Amino acid sequence: MNKSTAFLTSSVGRKIIMSLTGFFLFSFLIFHLYINLFLFKQDRGTTFDVYAEFLATYPLLRPIEIFLFAGFLLHAFVGVWLWITNRSVRPVGYKVSRASDSSTLTSRIAFWTGMFVALFLVIHVKTFFVNSRFFPDGRPMYELVAEAFKNPLYVVFYLVALAFLGYHLKHGFQSAFQTLGLRVQRYERLIDIVGIFFWLIIPICFAAIPLYFLLAQ
Ligand code: HEM
Repeated sequence: MNKSTAFLTSSVGRKIIMSLTGFFLFSFLIFHLYINLFLFKQDRGTTFDVYAEFLATYPLLRPIEIFLFAGFLLHAFVGVWLWITNRSVRPVGYKVSRASDSSTLTSRIAFWTGMFVALFLVIHVKTFFVNSRFFPDGRPMYELVAEAFKNPLYVVFYLVALAFLGYHLKHGFQSAFQTLGLRVQRYERLIDIVGIFFWLIIPICFAAIPLYFLLAQ
């Protein structure tokens, strides 16, 4: 194994991969939310559908899409790998301090919230992306969204998933800065304040969409 492979597969290297892919996925979320907010525009989805059509047909976006899905997969794969190795090196029957108890609990919750978000993503991508790209029925994307959120159970599933996403992002945002050595005392407060935008405001804005469609129709 050469030096860079050895580093990337070490525990520190894997944590760095988690942080970098995490930051990349944060930037996707901002872009995704920006486009989705056009769903609220009172034009029956005309503007939103122009964007959706562009995203589906502009050829230069295909490699970016592949990069995006690879980013999600890498983040999930390395996350599971880290979780498995952390479990196998954790001492069994050893009395640990309260601080490490709570950090174990935090990363355990981060793992399970991550798993739920991954399940959400599979269902979400199937509903909108796969159906519109591979089995198009000529209906505009706005209609697909409005149709999906007619179902109260589907809306509840989204709300739970977005609450989990919020928790996952809260842990992830702080831990990414920590891993990269950027969480220095001077910027701690700033990181926490900017973090609120990511883990609280973004999921709330996403959650408003299914609620809006459920209540508006
Ligand atoms: C709850 C509000 C949301 C709505 C209404 C929504 C809507 C959509 C739509 C319409 C598409 C298909 C876009 C296209 O193919 O042109 C899509 C794709 C996708 N969504 Fe969402 N989304 C929401 C939340 C999320 C969240 C929270 C995540 C990530 C955690 C996410 C991740 C993705 C991914 C990875 C794709 C496939 C890539 C893409 O088409 O850009 N979505 N979403």
